[in-house]
Amino acid sequence: MGQDNNIPMEEPARQFYFMELAGKLREDKEKKIGRALTYHVTTFGCQMNARDSEKLSGILERIGYTCTEREEDADLVLFNTCTIRDNADQKVYGRLGYLHGKNQNKKERIIALCGCMMQEPSALEKIKKSYPFVNIIFGTHNVYKLAELICIQAESGHMVIDILKDTDLIVEDIPNLRKYPFKSGVNIMFGCNNFCSYCIVPYVRGRERSREPREILREIERLSEDGVKEVMLLGQNVNSYGRGLSEDIDFSGLLREVEKVEGIERIRFMTSHPKDLSDDLINVMKESNKICRHIHLPLQSGSNKILKRMNRSYTREQYLLLAQKLKREIPDIAITTDIIIGFPGETPEDVDDTIDVINKVGYDGAFTFIYSKRSNTPAADMPDQVSEEQNKREFDRVLKRVQEVARERAALRTGRIEKVLVEEINSNDPGLMTGRLSSNLVVHFKGDESLIGQIVDVKLKECKNFYYIGEMIQEGKN
Ligand code: 5AD
Ligand code: SF4
Repeated sequence: MGQDNNIPMEEPARQFYFMELAGKLREDKEKKIGRALTYHVTTFGCQMNARDSEKLSGILERIGYTCTEREEDADLVLFNTCTIRDNADQKVYGRLGYLHGKNQNKKERIIALCGCMMQEPSALEKIKKSYPFVNIIFGTHNVYKLAELICIQAESGHMVIDILKDTDLIVEDIPNLRKYPFKSGVNIMFGCNNFCSYCIVPYVRGRERSREPREILREIERLSEDGVKEVMLLGQNVNSYGRGLSEDIDFSGLLREVEKVEGIERIRFMTSHPKDLSDDLINVMKESNKICRHIHLPLQSGSNKILKRMNRSYTREQYLLLAQKLKREIPDIAITTDIIIGFPGETPEDVDDTIDVINKVGYDGAFTFIYSKRSNTPAADMPDQVSEEQNKREFDRVLKRVQEVARERAALRTGRIEKVLVEEINSNDPGLMTGRLSSNLVVHFKGDESLIGQIVDVKLKECKNFYYIGEMIQEGKN
């Protein structure tokens, strides 16, 4: 393989070459053992990782592996890891240990690790040393290369490690296997330049780079042709989309174009940084029939002192004005957020400020996290790290308030008829279907499987804290 002059140099042709080669290796092996080779991809972390996993699964399917639900039975197990907080790392170590103990006799099994945690040098070292049974390790910048790495590993028989520190390259047209036929994530940009002082993402996902608008639109058009009705535009900070592209386009400009794609009925996006959210974006949302009435707008803290130390580039006052403007211009909008408790130097008074913002904004939902020290981030060296005891107390206080507010907000919709994208059969009651409102709120209602992927009208009858029991009014025309 190393000497083969026919290996294309350019992407994605090179990867299609390796997918074919890996497919032949798989066929040979299957003939030898007399059964199909299986794979399982386990995803940790955010929507970006979920989308990467769809690409990884797409490559494995293309090679000809068969998907299996049971991780421990698979011939190729791939962990797509996260490292945003320490507990994400711990989960991976735990699962690796479990997997290894489970099937020690499965000598032929391939274990591959990729994603954010692999970009962290100390985690990589630990895996090399303590988990030598891992066969393939790669990072966030070369997800597209899985087939090539499988081939290299098969030839060498050794642990193969391929980590790039950063890249400008965006490889298009890699196969992918969508989890849902009717909705899909679409990467619009990669990386992050914000360097919030607690956050490891800029180090593991590299510098911000936007995809060309025509590539994004081509992908969305194809998705639409393939039956997708809802797209979620993905980026660490979608509001800065377009910087560095030769074409003069920003995020609202991109949304205007996505809006024109026929067949796409719902557009979501994630994540917005408050410092870059423009009036133009609010206008586009307001005028649009397709952009969902939901914005995820991470607050992180309501204290100016902490926001400054976090390097968030906005004050609580600016944030509140923005939230007010959003609610004034788009009255039915749902605002959700992320909050960190226990950032170095945070006092109970700072947490009071956070709770004050929670009360004033009236969040429809919030993810609350206890601060986790990430090595080499500026916050890791800050004085006044907060005690575990204070963290627990303040976390409970914030969580309680966030839940009360979200419950009150959800209840306001009782009796309304809203459009629902039907997503799946309810996991507890097969007589019920589960879907989402434009606001992202979940509703369960009587119906059958044939509704999956359709947009239907549902009357919101009974609010059960964070979801509704509803009744379908009429079948959608879709
Ligand atoms: N500790 C705790 N939470 C964090 N987040 C990011 N880094 C950390 C950290 N070191 C949270 C932020 C971000 C979300 C995705 O994860 O709230 O918005
Ligand atoms: Fe991390 Fe801040 Fe970038 Fe979000 S914007 S990924 S919190 S550095």
